[in-house]
Amino acid sequence: MFFASDNTSGVHPRILDALVRANDGYPPSYGDDAIMARVRDRLRETFEAPEAAVYLVATGTAANSLILGTLAQPYETIFCTPMSHINEDEANAPEFYTGGAKLTLTGTEDAKMSAATLRKAIEAEGTRGVHGPKRGPVSLTNVTERGTVYDLDELGRIGTVAKEFGLPLHLDGARFGNAVEALGCTAAEMSWKAGVDAVSFGGTKSGCMGVEAVVFFDPARAEEFEFRRKRGGHLFSKHRYLSAQMAAYLEDDLWRSLAAQANAACQRLAQALKQMPDVRFSHDTPANIIFASWPRGLHEKLKAAGAHYHLYSGSETGPEDEMQEARLVTSWSTSEEDVDRFLEVMRH
Ligand SMILES: Cc1ncc(COP(=O)(O)O)c(C=O)c1O
Repeated sequence: MFFASDNTSGVHPRILDALVRANDGYPPSYGDDAIMARVRDRLRETFEAPEAAVYLVATGTAANSLILGTLAQPYETIFCTPMSHINEDEANAPEFYTGGAKLTLTGTEDAKMSAATLRKAIEAEGTRGVHGPKRGPVSLTNVTERGTVYDLDELGRIGTVAKEFGLPLHLDGARFGNAVEALGCTAAEMSWKAGVDAVSFGGTKSGCMGVEAVVFFDPARAEEFEFRRKRGGHLFSKHRYLSAQMAAYLEDDLWRSLAAQANAACQRLAQALKQMPDVRFSHDTPANIIFASWPRGLHEKLKAAGAHYHLYSGSETGPEDEMQEARLVTSWSTSEEDVDRFLEVMRH
């Protein structure tokens, strides 16, 4: 019953096999390997963007920060939500890689921003001439850090506001596949067709060992990104091992089927939890992350039975009936048995 994070899941066998196969021979280093050429073609096809500039890095923090470093000037501000990974979980890497850009926080409890809240935040910045920050990129996450999912209309409206102010739009897609599967849309629809300029396309959480793709829809960003990646220490010499993971992940749309598996396990859990009288959901969470509350006594029983997940609210000690909020995350490797065991403990 491992629901602490999709980062705790293993590597899918097809990706491990691809790594073993890539271990043969002496191909060129630093991304000049033949597998990377295939990855570039395949990602361009996947995103229906034949001109896109495509790169690989090993962590989501590197992908986000290097993209933002390319999109933002040091004197600009990046519009994002308070719960965004770039604000809460990257130890100021975006500020570091941009050379000092700041973050302007806007959004609501469900870790989303709306076109209206974004517009308000943009209008409040860039009003003090050289004395204040200049308006910079907008950064969104889908699936959000609260497990919610922006639908295509919401994304399109945000994209329109960003374009109106001439600001680039970045999408943190650490769980890109889970969002695409939850929406039943294409990669293009959830990115450039909605006004997104650059995407971090996550692999690590969804069956890879450690690889994220960076996709810029405007190839003019390519050269600057390449220098920034090298300077930031994220150009891998034995790049073929990043390429091999991503190539296997893209082959036959494995990225979509693994995300669909993770979402299905999560929705099995969510549907059953919703039937339980003691359980409260604060948001609709249609992908592979659930936030829900139930009484402390029940959390204690679950922990004692071996369930792993994080608590997001409530105190360490207190009455048995105090509501505490849990975050549960499923992955490609979550089995129906794991979910059913968890539900069984909750029911009894
Ligand atoms: C929304 C989001 N973005 C990015 C990341 C990537 O982080 P890391 O640098 O740990 O790979 C994560 C990982 O938890 C995440 O949840």
